[in-house]
Amino acid sequence: MANKVYITRRIPPVGIDLFREKGVEIDFWDSDEAIPHQELVKNVKGKGYAGLLCLLTDQVDAEVFEAAGPSLKVVSTLSVGYEHIDLKACKARNIIACNLSKISTDCVSEFAVTLALAVSRRIEEGIAAVRNGSWGLWKPMWILGSSFANRTIGVLGMGRIGYGVARRMKAFCISRLIYHDIKESSFAQELGAEFVDLETLLKDSDVICICCNLTPATHYLFNKENFKKMKNTAILINTSRGGVINHDDLYDALKNHEIGAAGLDVTEPEPLPKEHRLNSLPNCVVTLHMGSNTWEARNNMSYNAALNIDSVFENQTPMGKIEN
Ligand SMILES: NC(=O)c1ccc[n+]([C@@H]2O[C@H](COP(=O)([O-])OP(=O)(O)OC[C@H]3O[C@@H](n4cnc5c(N)ncnc54)[C@H](O)[C@@H]3O)[C@@H](O)[C@H]2O)c1
Repeated sequence: MANKVYITRRIPPVGIDLFREKGVEIDFWDSDEAIPHQELVKNVKGKGYAGLLCLLTDQVDAEVFEAAGPSLKVVSTLSVGYEHIDLKACKARNIIACNLSKISTDCVSEFAVTLALAVSRRIEEGIAAVRNGSWGLWKPMWILGSSFANRTIGVLGMGRIGYGVARRMKAFCISRLIYHDIKESSFAQELGAEFVDLETLLKDSDVICICCNLTPATHYLFNKENFKKMKNTAILINTSRGGVINHDDLYDALKNHEIGAAGLDVTEPEPLPKEHRLNSLPNCVVTLHMGSNTWEARNNMSYNAALNIDSVFENQTPMGKIEN
């Protein structure tokens, strides 16, 4: 009997093609919008699915597993982050959970640097001035930013994306590259990046790129107290998860010029409501969690999320298996 998989969204066709080539039967939520939780529970109930391909917007918990029943062997998410999957519940039912670890590293690293440049050179304000007609004759002191050259760049979390950001930043003639992580990394040393404690990272960096995972230790790490330790010209870039920053404290720090500016690709909540106070600040640029928005990355993500499931069906260890 063919294995059956439920997919919680329309995804790029390469993943679907892989399932079809392997004779896997698929059903999916035929929409570009997230499936409501109760709809997911209803749709997987009693259908004998052996695989679930989910997205970071789905809450994949015991209720879903209960509905899917004992046929479910594997859950594979089309994302790097997997906070939305209840790993304990997976373990209790011997369900293998998988994510996509390396697939979007290059494009998210490129995006973090793009956002850092856009914020430090005030690109959003420049474009707005062109579009709203406020662009007058050249003025020597209007919409001035700052350069990366001769600056100290700090990376929080020297993992795959942190390393990707660090090596790209080296191209900008910076004076010092520093990072903080829970451990020192040999590949960072090869780049000439200096391991520092958190206090030094906060105090010395002109630009801080947050590239760590969201964990209890990093939750709201950027708060009132830590903003006070940063330079009042510092630029804070977040491409990891919104929960690393306390957004109320960030608003105050930006408003009171305790720090210079922020670029956020991830927020809390997502989507950030249009009326959110952060959207009223010229020194805060918010993008819509688009770090991996490239065709190359999305095709790779679709293929590899499907491959993780197929590997389980083939009794192999999937490349993206989350150690649990
Ligand atoms: N914006 C996007 O579209 C997008 C896309 C992909 C991933 N992400 C996010 O980026 C994050 C990083 O991805 P990655 O592939 O580099 O992960 P990774 O696991 O390779 O790297 C994370 C690094 O953070 C470090 N870290 C953990 N706790 C820390 C702490 N308390 N202090 C300092 N460092 C700490 C880890 O040791 C590790 O080196 C993911 O967790 C994901 O949430 C965002």
